[in-house]
Amino acid sequence: MIKTIKNSKTPLKGEITIPSDKSISHRAVMFSSISQGECIIKNFSSGADCHSTLKLFKSLGINIRFIDKKSIKVKGCGGRLKPLSKNSIYNCGNSGTTMRLVSGILAGENFDSVLTGDESLSKRPMKRIIDPLILMGADICSDNGHAPLSIHGKRLHGINYCSKLASAQVKSCILLAGLKADGTTTFKEPYLSRNHTENLFKYLGANIETHDCKITIRPSILEAKDIDIAGDISSAAFFMVAGLIVKGSDFIIKNVGINPTRAGIIDIINRMGGNIEILNPRHISGEEIADVRIQYTDNLKSCIIKGADIPRLIDELPVIAVLASQAEGETIVKDAGDLRNKESDRIKCLVKELLKIGVDIEESEDGFTVRGKSELFGNNTLESYHDHRLAMSFYVAGLICKNEIAINGFEWTKISFPEFEELFALISQ
Ligand code: S3P
Repeated sequence: MIKTIKNSKTPLKGEITIPSDKSISHRAVMFSSISQGECIIKNFSSGADCHSTLKLFKSLGINIRFIDKKSIKVKGCGGRLKPLSKNSIYNCGNSGTTMRLVSGILAGENFDSVLTGDESLSKRPMKRIIDPLILMGADICSDNGHAPLSIHGKRLHGINYCSKLASAQVKSCILLAGLKADGTTTFKEPYLSRNHTENLFKYLGANIETHDCKITIRPSILEAKDIDIAGDISSAAFFMVAGLIVKGSDFIIKNVGINPTRAGIIDIINRMGGNIEILNPRHISGEEIADVRIQYTDNLKSCIIKGADIPRLIDELPVIAVLASQAEGETIVKDAGDLRNKESDRIKCLVKELLKIGVDIEESEDGFTVRGKSELFGNNTLESYHDHRLAMSFYVAGLICKNEIAINGFEWTKISFPEFEELFALISQ
């Protein structure tokens, strides 16, 4: 689907409520499915990725049903899954989170399973989870480190693992495996990645201890408890950037998850001198949320984004590139090489497409440099590379291009944020 976007001649105004967090929605279904008891998950994501997880657990025999448009009731299996068939193929669609986290659950079961994915997911690296799982005693065959993954379920044992990557997917996979493994599992990472697994494990009564970048888990059965899911800061980021760069904008984004391991975008906006206010901070189901007021800022300045910043805003980097194009000076992003392993090579594809509309951006091995301020002209078609976050970042850039732009493959926004356009319409006049 080709989508055309025109310059937003008028400021963005009003109020929107940001839909459910993708990372937490995945975890809520997975963890309730393996918990003891019944629960209701409120504000479940309508994105295709989270529905891949939901479908997968239904095929694993879990009783999950919608009780209204956004709420589901889950009856947990009490620790061990009892699948309908003992050797089944489960399709994870486009979702890396589904494949990597579910591998940690299935590796320790007493049945065999195969995990498959679409073309993009089949190209993404899985060695990062296969290697530590094998150290725990798992039996997994892959296509040279890629899906499909054939998992021969086995009893696992705890390990002491030091990860080179700060990846929440790797961490969560190992913690899920550790939940059923014999003994203690310790996981260390170089920088703290998103900690929704740790938060939800604590909320559901797991035997888990956390100290900065080190987590220890001992065998436990999770206790089902109702979960209310925060709004997704990664989705809100598109609106934050749009509000900062579309002249005269001033609006409120409600229910945004502001977990510090995800809130790097807020720090960056502050560092760049952007006008952002955090209102009414509160907690739901072990997570911090708030409403966010965003206002157009005409004196944004560049900044350097690296090291510990990266896992806290990894998914926001494409739209941060758009923001940097409107900031005075050179914004440098480094230590973000893993961006090349996302739904697309997000460094190469982002740079190639933004150059077309006049962003002064240069690729580096582990990031990019943007020199602002540029006037963006448009009048061309940008490729989404089947990547939802690129499609939405280009939409935001389109709002300030002098001429109309077209985005090819805009339907991929459905992966995480089907409500994206509808919400933009609410604040556009
Ligand atoms: C996610 C972790 C991040 C992020 C992805 C969702 C998660 O990936 O990019 O969109 O839910 O754990 P990595 O763990 O590969 O950094």
